[in-house]
Amino acid sequence: GPPPHASLRGLLWLLGVWESQPAGEGLYPPGVAPFSFRETATFTHTGQPLLEYTFYASHVESGRPMHRETGFLKPAPAEANNHHNNNNRIAIINAQNTGLVEVGEGQVDGESLTVTSHTLGRTTFNKQPHVTQIQRILRLTAQGELEHVVSMATETSPLQQHLHTTYRRRGN
Ligand code: HEM
Repeated sequence: GPPPHASLRGLLWLLGVWESQPAGEGLYPPGVAPFSFRETATFTHTGQPLLEYTFYASHVESGRPMHRETGFLKPAPAEANNHHNNNNRIAIINAQNTGLVEVGEGQVDGESLTVTSHTLGRTTFNKQPHVTQIQRILRLTAQGELEHVVSMATETSPLQQHLHTTYRRRGN
């Protein structure tokens, strides 16, 4: 395929297919037992100035599909960067099988990125409590593993961690 677009220079550490190992850990809501899940994360590109990604979670024992999400990680274009005197701005845009869509922004710092939602959309029949904010940290560990921490706020709970997943590259 085409080489990665120059704007992806700071994101090449994400490329590939990643499998949770150990199982992902979930918390929420307070009082509900913590849960485990398996998750495959895929980051690819087409030569365009953005990454395409998927997070597909499944049940640890049965393999039954659970949460699914697909979207894009899009570095801010150079003009926008220059305007804000910051070369590391990035956006996340995704759709989730729960009926939620998320648009957020943040920044890349070395092999780590943080994004916070500024816009969430949902179907009129999404169940409550509605999610009011999502914050994510994705980073490469010193061991070459990918770590993903997702925190969320809902109408009834403040921002708190929901998910923690460590992945290894498939085949490693
Ligand atoms: C519960 C949001 C990702 C598994 C919840 C709840 C919310 C929520 C609002 C509580 C309300 C409810 O019961 O529906 C999100 C968001 C995610 C996300 C915004 C991504 C950004 C995941 C992933 C898994 C997962 C990857 C992995 C399987 C669960 C489970 C519960 C839960 C097991 C416990 C409550 C239940 O059994 O329904 N999530 N979630 N979530 N979530 Fe997530």
